[in-house]
Amino acid sequence: MIRDRRKIEELCEAHPELSELLTAQMPRHVAMIMDGNGRWAKQKGMPRSAGHYEGVKSVRRVTELSSDVGVDYLTLYAFSTENWNRPQEEVDTLMHLIGIAIEQELPDLMKNNVRLYLIGDLSRIPNEALNRLRGAEEATRENTGLKLLMCISYSARWELTEAARRLSRRVAAGEISADAIDEAVFADHLATAEFPDPDLLIRTAGDCRVSNFLLWQIAYSELKFTDTLWPDFDKPEYGRILLEYQHRERRFGKTSEQIRTN
Ligand code: FPP
Repeated sequence: MIRDRRKIEELCEAHPELSELLTAQMPRHVAMIMDGNGRWAKQKGMPRSAGHYEGVKSVRRVTELSSDVGVDYLTLYAFSTENWNRPQEEVDTLMHLIGIAIEQELPDLMKNNVRLYLIGDLSRIPNEALNRLRGAEEATRENTGLKLLMCISYSARWELTEAARRLSRRVAAGEISADAIDEAVFADHLATAEFPDPDLLIRTAGDCRVSNFLLWQIAYSELKFTDTLWPDFDKPEYGRILLEYQHRERRFGKTSEQIRTN
């Protein structure tokens, strides 16, 4: 459901190539690998942290556009399990920034009726950042618009291993039989159990890989890789990708003919 037609019409006026955007169905769930902050900063002779700060503006832009066009779920890969291995100074900066940024964006999240969810191994996040994140998650609890899923200290292998562990415990406790485990039961034990799978996964900054992100959930997602560095990723480009998505044929293993006659 389009949430702000006027804002989209303004965007389309400034970018006529987007004029068809509202005539077809939006993806219900968009996931993004936000890459290229470091390279953006380096190109400008700035410290890597400057790229991360600038990247927050892109987070705001994609959240706004997702909300306005009526995407229901936006999942952002903000910090991976592997990112803990970066130099300590950069880890500290990122943790601080993520906490501060979410807190600063809270009034806008509230205004736009966005609900925040945190996904990941939160036990590793420093208290100061975690308190800010938890506070924002709690504050947006009653919001009913866009669901913004922040993956922090997340990796798909962590999530899959946790699911296997939880299921094994339930089998050992006699709550469920091993033979009853099917795809649906397994998916119910993932950190993302309550959310649908992404329809579209976008990665910025040119690398064509999925880097341990939502490996189970993206089995049938449409993938889009763009060379644009995350801090330069703007609403018109996101709009063009949404438009491209609308022209893709999703077959889920079936034939074109089957899809067209359904
Ligand atoms: C990847 O760029 C980016 C990250 C590891 C962090 C992403 C975080 C933000 C955009 C800020 C988060 C803010 C909120 C509100 C969630 P990179 O450092 O890997 O860049 P490089 O590949 O060019 O080195």
